[in-house]
Amino acid sequence: MRRWILAVTAAALLFSFGACGRQEGKDSESGGNTQMEEGNKPEDSLASEDRDTENGSGAGAEGAGTNGASEGEGAVTGTEAGAAGASKDGGEGSGDGSASAEEGQVTGLAQLYEENFPIGVALPNYVFSHIEEYEQVIVDNFNSITCENEMKPDSLLDKKASQADLENTYLRAAVHFDNCMPAVEFALKHDMKIRFHTLVWHSQTPKWFFTEDYTDNGELVDRETMLTRMENYIADVLGYFQENYPGLIYAVDVVNEAFDVGNGDENGVRMKDNRWYDTVGDDYYYHAFVFARRYASEDMKLFYNDYGCMHKTKLILDHLKQAKEEGLIDGIGMQSHLSVTDDIRFTFMLAAKEFCEEGYEVQATELDIGVKESGKGSFRTQGSKYKSFFRGMQNLQEEGWPITNVTVWGLNDALSWRKDESALMFDEDMEPKPAYLGAMQDESVWDE
Ligand code: G3I
Repeated sequence: MRRWILAVTAAALLFSFGACGRQEGKDSESGGNTQMEEGNKPEDSLASEDRDTENGSGAGAEGAGTNGASEGEGAVTGTEAGAAGASKDGGEGSGDGSASAEEGQVTGLAQLYEENFPIGVALPNYVFSHIEEYEQVIVDNFNSITCENEMKPDSLLDKKASQADLENTYLRAAVHFDNCMPAVEFALKHDMKIRFHTLVWHSQTPKWFFTEDYTDNGELVDRETMLTRMENYIADVLGYFQENYPGLIYAVDVVNEAFDVGNGDENGVRMKDNRWYDTVGDDYYYHAFVFARRYASEDMKLFYNDYGCMHKTKLILDHLKQAKEEGLIDGIGMQSHLSVTDDIRFTFMLAAKEFCEEGYEVQATELDIGVKESGKGSFRTQGSKYKSFFRGMQNLQEEGWPITNVTVWGLNDALSWRKDESALMFDEDMEPKPAYLGAMQDESVWDE
């Protein structure tokens, strides 16, 4: 039996008898949040403005907390062995990380929800360069991956090549794909699909992409030039994957985080630090969908992706109305950067259903659920929130609503962009937390 599955079994048994195993021990030793040791994941020293979460900034709390279970609430039902994710005899893996569970055994999240929707995880190149530490858990639980950063414009746009041949690149910036190859190769090896994140975003898109000479402080180009650059970028990126890896990309975050109110916007369209707005104007997001539909293959579903969706459904629906009517968009990516004080069972799920009622697919694209401080009670509450989330999305799907993916934004707490909120399902040692048991809807996790 695989070590991590043994850990799940032990965690569920200890958790169900209130000992909460490792988490308690860890807290008493480390006094709370686990932080990656210096130098393990060099990037991601996030400035606060990068922390786009459900309420647009800060720790992801969804405004005034509602029905957030207080610490220690709720009995934890006992459970025999056979904890979530445990495959009593998972058999010997084939060594390539493929699951070889016996009939009827569940090896992880992907198998548990295989009748509902794919289960994804966002991965940085750091994971692929240390894959021996992570491969088995990834393969046992996920069938979809998203590049945490390596398919964003600042990874794909090639400044040097664009500047070197300005006559030919003025309307068509040069692109390169070496940064995302570790993810592509891993997905191909394990027969996984990829959510592409993201084509058009105000963040992580280099300033030089918008200037006359492709220098950071150059003069901005005009609307028509930038629209042509946008079209060519989208054509070249989607064309590259269709030509070289047909069928690999099944969902594309065409536009990310374009609509907000009170966070530097005009009529709800983001203006603040947004060179797409500065050059193209307040309809830039519409044109992105025109071009994406023009160049995407049939098997690439096109999404608008945003945080805080459950508080701005009307804003999003109103702005996307024309694109929707013209058949340019397939779904809404609800990022789902939540905290344990957020109301998931009602507010979140009702918003997801509202998008479905308007004819959209819905995917949870960046799920994490933060706690204010780590500890037995917090992690128990977190577990019940994860259980609510997965059960709520499964229920909607089984009622016939097009819920077509749940992706978590990271593999473990130490790798997370929300390091100080212990927001994910595994701890820094890749041990499953109650959050994982909750996602597996294990009976050792109480219902909220
Ligand atoms: O690549 C550089 C590296 O060369 C440099 O040494 C290092 C110094 O800090 O920075 C590295 O860049 C970091 C980048 O991640 C790549 O690792 C940036 O500082 C860091 O700010 C950036 O953070 C990412 C953040 O988006 C940027 O907005 C997070 O990893 C990523 O999880 C986060 O993901 C976003 C989604 O794309 C959209 N929804 C919100 C979500 C959370 O902000």
